[in-house]
Amino acid sequence: MRAALKRLVADLLGGNEMKFCGRAHRRVRGLLGRAILVAAACLFAAQFVAQNAWAGETTQKVVNKAPNGLAQTPPMGWNSWNKFACNVDEKTVRAAADAMVTSGMKDAGYEYVVVDDCWQGPRDANGFITANPVKFSSGIKALSDYVHSKGLKFGIYSDAGRETCDGFSGSQGHEYQDAMTYARWGVDYLKYDWCETGSRNGEEAYAVMADALRSTGRPIVFSMCEWGVSKPWLWARNVGNLWRTTGDIRDSFDKWDPKNQFVHPLLEILDQNEPLWSFAGPGHWNDPDMLEVGNGGMTTAEYRAHFSLWAMMAAPLMAGNDISNMDESARSILTNKDVIAVDQDQLGVQGHRVAKDGDKEIWMKPLAGGGRAVLLFNRGATPVNITVDNDDLGYASTMRARVRDLWTHKEVGNWKGSYSATVEPHGVVMLRLNP
Ligand code: GLA
Repeated sequence: MRAALKRLVADLLGGNEMKFCGRAHRRVRGLLGRAILVAAACLFAAQFVAQNAWAGETTQKVVNKAPNGLAQTPPMGWNSWNKFACNVDEKTVRAAADAMVTSGMKDAGYEYVVVDDCWQGPRDANGFITANPVKFSSGIKALSDYVHSKGLKFGIYSDAGRETCDGFSGSQGHEYQDAMTYARWGVDYLKYDWCETGSRNGEEAYAVMADALRSTGRPIVFSMCEWGVSKPWLWARNVGNLWRTTGDIRDSFDKWDPKNQFVHPLLEILDQNEPLWSFAGPGHWNDPDMLEVGNGGMTTAEYRAHFSLWAMMAAPLMAGNDISNMDESARSILTNKDVIAVDQDQLGVQGHRVAKDGDKEIWMKPLAGGGRAVLLFNRGATPVNITVDNDDLGYASTMRARVRDLWTHKEVGNWKGSYSATVEPHGVVMLRLNP
C-alpha cells in the first residue's frame, strides 16, 4: 500500500494526477478491492497536493529523510556549464576527465566530472531519456565508463520541471524512470535544476527526486539547483547534499551584466551565501555556484580571492573552466592543496565574516583540532593593511599557534595575539593557525 501510494504520489507530482486517477479507474473497473485502494490513493494524493501547495509537510512523512551518507566534505570536481554552456559534447567531457588527472587536480582531491544541461536527446517511446545522438554519439554509459576508468566519478544534469533551462526534457513526471536510467548509466552525481516548474512546491519536488535516487540503491550525490528560491537551507538537510543559494555566478568580481540580471558578480554571490553559514555541515552544503577561476574575466588576485572565499565557506569546489587548456596560473590556484584542505576540513563548519571595516574584511573558519583558517580580504581597489587579533578569532590571550600563509606556502612564525598584513586590491591573505 505504501509503495503504491508513493508511486502514485510520484506520478501525481509530475502533474499527472488526473490522468493517473482516470487510467487507474478504467483498469480496476469491477474490482472492488482495488477500486477502494485507488480511491484511497487518489484521496491521499489530493490531500498531498493540497498540503504541499502551502507547506510541504506531507513530504516529510512520505519520503525517507535519513541522510544518504554522501558528501561528508564539500564535493569537488568539474562542471561543463560555466565555460561550455550548451556547446558540450562527449569529446569535451572526455578531455576534461583526462585533464583532471594530468593537471594534478585529481591528486588535489577533485573527483566528479559533471555534464550540465544540453546532453539530452528526445525521450523514447516508453518515456526513457536518451542522449543527443550527435553530440554524445557513444552514449552516456560509455562516457561514464570512460570517466570511471580514470578513477573519477560521473555526474549528470536534469531539472524538476517539464523542461530544463535550455529547453530539453526535464524530469517532472519521470523522476523514478530517470533515476533508474542514471543508475544504469553509472551516474554518481545529479545536479537538479528549477526551470519550467510552474507552481510546483520546491520541497516536494526535490524530495521526490531524492527518493527516486535513493530507491535505485546507487549512491548518487544530489545537488539541488533552485537558486535559493524556497530557502532550501531551512528544509533540505537530508534531501540534497548541496543546494544553490543564489542565481548564477558571473565571471566578474563586482560588475553586473545589464542585459542579464540572473547572473551575479562574485561579491553579490558572496554576500548572499555568507550569512547562511550555520546551515552547512557534513553531508549538506550551501552552494554559491561553480568556480570561474581560469575563465578570463577576473585578475589573478581576484581568482585567488574567489578560490579562498569558496574554501572559507566550505563551498563545493566545482571547476568551471576549460581544464584541458588552462594556463599555469589557473592550474596552480585550483590545485592549491593548502587552501583545499581548509575547504575539505573534517569539522565541516562553514566559515564566515567576523569583522568588517569598509572594504577590509576578516573571515574565520574553525578547523578540526582547534585550528583556524583566517582570511584577510580587501574588497577595494587600493592596497590596505589589515590586522586580525584574538578577539576576532575567539581565542584566549594565552593561545599559542603556528601561522602558515596558504598562498606563499610558508610558515610565518608564531601567533602572538595578532597578525597584520598588506592585502592587494581585490585580494586576500589566507592563513592557517595550528595550535
Ligand atoms: C541554470 C543553472 C545553471 C546551469 C543552467 C543550464 O541557469 O543555475 O547552473 O545549470 O541552468 O541551463
